[in-house]
Amino acid sequence: MHRVAVIKGDGIGIEVTEAAMKVIEAVTDRIEFVEFEGGFRVFERYGVPIRGEDIEEIRKMDAVLFGATTTPFNVPNYKSLILTLRKELGLYANLRIIPDLWNGREIYVVRENSEGLYSGMFRATEDRVIDFRIITEEGSRRIARFAVELAKNKESFITLVHKANVLMGDRFFRKTVIREAEKEGIDVRERLVDSFTIDLVRNPWNHGIILTENLFGDILSDLAAIHARSIGVIPSGNYGIDIALFEPIHGSAPDIAGKGIANPIGAILSGAMLLDYLGLDGWKIWNAVRSYVKVGSLTPDLGGVAMTRDVVEGVIEEIESEIDPLEWDEVWTDEIRISFIPTMFTK
Ligand code: IPM
Ligand code: MG
Repeated sequence: MHRVAVIKGDGIGIEVTEAAMKVIEAVTDRIEFVEFEGGFRVFERYGVPIRGEDIEEIRKMDAVLFGATTTPFNVPNYKSLILTLRKELGLYANLRIIPDLWNGREIYVVRENSEGLYSGMFRATEDRVIDFRIITEEGSRRIARFAVELAKNKESFITLVHKANVLMGDRFFRKTVIREAEKEGIDVRERLVDSFTIDLVRNPWNHGIILTENLFGDILSDLAAIHARSIGVIPSGNYGIDIALFEPIHGSAPDIAGKGIANPIGAILSGAMLLDYLGLDGWKIWNAVRSYVKVGSLTPDLGGVAMTRDVVEGVIEEIESEIDPLEWDEVWTDEIRISFIPTMFTK
């Protein structure tokens, strides 16, 4: 049995996480979910977005399934729950898979998740605030290793995005990445972040594994999201040494919360990434979602009129009619997506 912590969070985070849990349960009975509370409501009661004792419990789990939380930027002392968890659980690598579910194409963004401008270190005086952009050798090395392994597994290359013509930290970062990639014979193509944005809009599908530091990764992954038709379908994984956390990249969408119309696909595919991580059958979910979107009705963000639960039911039906892997030889097509997370980053 694998023990998975569940933090549904706020707004549609609750609905989509419940949807993902149902789909996971349709694939495997080897997961036990343990629920924890976190987010702004917890902060209002306890002054922290998640209680210390809960973090200690979560550390003992095999993985975390996360919904979405509201991060207000005008509440003094509020620290985002997801940033807190990334830090507390040492989740240094963020992989976002931006899928074109209708044509079987994907964009991969690997974002360094623990350093850069998100280090939380700053110095503030009366008339000046300095945020420290931390880039360390170890931080760069481990994220480089993550991207290199992905590239190896996909027989692909790395597009390294930086601003090394201006930023000292990026000169340091790029040296480490290039060295790690060379060791494994992985090709690195370098791009400056500003001009790369144009390419990411016009020609998004041919960049291999896009690797970048924290802030650039935050921005570029949202930009790349336009190619998925809706931000509601994009999953992500935050990987650490002993544990990983999976979350759709969308927010808590308070305007549609509770209406039953949130798109659950991003959360469901995050569930697929979670199964990949645990060495279970994540591919079943990927393929079921791909088959479903071609025939089934879609939620309003994708121009349809479906409810969250219609999508969940439809995806589960697809899972139940899935082809047995033993028959793959006869039916192998490009349609079938296999898991590709390198085993060194699985549980
Ligand atoms: C994300 C989010 C977070 C981030 C926020 C909520 C702190 O935008 O996961 O990309 O910037 O990392
Ligand atoms: Mg973001």
